[in-house]
Amino acid sequence: MFEERVVSGMRPTGAMHLGHFHGALKNWVKLQSEYPCLYFVADWHALTTHYETPEVIEENVWDMVIDWLAAGIDPAQATLFIQSRIPEHAELHTLLSMITPLSWLERVPSYKDQQEKLVDRDLSTYGFLGYPLLQAADVLVYRAKYVPVGEDQVPHVEMMREVARRFNHVYGREPGFEDKAKAAAKKLGGRKAKVLMELRTKYQEQGDAEALATARALLDKQGNLSVADGERLFGYLEGSGRLILVEPEALLTESSKLPGIDGQKMSKSYNNTISLREDAESVRKKIRTMPTDPARVKRSDPGDPDKCPVWQFHLVYSDEKTRQWANQGCRTAGIGCLECKQPVIDAVLAEQGPMRERAQKYLDDPTLVRNIVADGCEKARKLARETMREVRGAMGLAYT
Ligand code: TRP
Ligand code: SF4
Repeated sequence: MFEERVVSGMRPTGAMHLGHFHGALKNWVKLQSEYPCLYFVADWHALTTHYETPEVIEENVWDMVIDWLAAGIDPAQATLFIQSRIPEHAELHTLLSMITPLSWLERVPSYKDQQEKLVDRDLSTYGFLGYPLLQAADVLVYRAKYVPVGEDQVPHVEMMREVARRFNHVYGREPGFEDKAKAAAKKLGGRKAKVLMELRTKYQEQGDAEALATARALLDKQGNLSVADGERLFGYLEGSGRLILVEPEALLTESSKLPGIDGQKMSKSYNNTISLREDAESVRKKIRTMPTDPARVKRSDPGDPDKCPVWQFHLVYSDEKTRQWANQGCRTAGIGCLECKQPVIDAVLAEQGPMRERAQKYLDDPTLVRNIVADGCEKARKLARETMREVRGAMGLAYT
């Protein structure tokens, strides 16, 4: 019934690096030719943690879009936009907040994790608690089918599904609604079910409000009705059932196998990144000074690639033959570490070459990026408006 859309966002809190590329962007590039994709700069989400340093966000918004384009995101295929330019995200967030139990937000694992991890910031804010619900609005407002995310975000997608389901139960209907509603009616027992159906027909065909009230009273008295079945039956009585929000699915991106240059996870906060368009000299220097297996003190000491972050780079960047050469050379002290690093340096530079080239055009003429984003915002907004029209209608906000 709806297009199989893909939606994903990234927070503009720092420069994109090769970890982002191998962990997410490469997948975005692949998806853009398979589905209609909407990719956005999650600047409001960035504010939930960086509300005291908004300049960080401002600095990174356009650079991030340039990095996306450099990585191969094609604006002719994917729709690129900025979250805060689409006020419908905020509107849906507010409306969804009406039906979202606090406990759903409190139990999302990232909530406590991040509060504990980012001790230098006060994250006991309303905005930070609402982070996953805003994220739900980001996706639900486009009725997206798929959300490409990393492992850490899967609970957020789970919550989106729950919110959509609840919304549809309260204000619309889920797939197979009719059958489920009928099955729920049957559970009341044959006689009551029959009465209920008759009252429903009276209300729907003759607009008999009293019949509706009687039917509702009948349901109200049912102690053994599950919440979901109750919501189905109330919707069924009114005939207001519609599928309004789509339950999205996570498209799990394998987490990046590319570690930072120190072997830990590549992350700005560990100061171990290679940025997407880093200049060649700096890339060479960073890789040349990467730590290796500490057992290789002297050139003649054999090493173990499994204890060396450079080997992780080989696993991402090298073909089988080069890997064999490195593995064997390391274990037999047949090659030195600098020698071993050279093919990695070459491969990283070869990967970055086309990225730097693609970015240049946008660096030379910043209006190009502004225009791409303006177009993307317009397209996104059109879709978001359609959904919100339904949502407002379903929630009784379409005053005439
Ligand atoms: N929370 C995501 C992250 O930190 C970013 C994000 C915001 C997002 N809104 C989204 C991802 C919607 C997917 C869909 O990576
Ligand atoms: Fe690491 Fe290569 Fe040196 Fe072995 S030879 S320790 S894999 S850099």
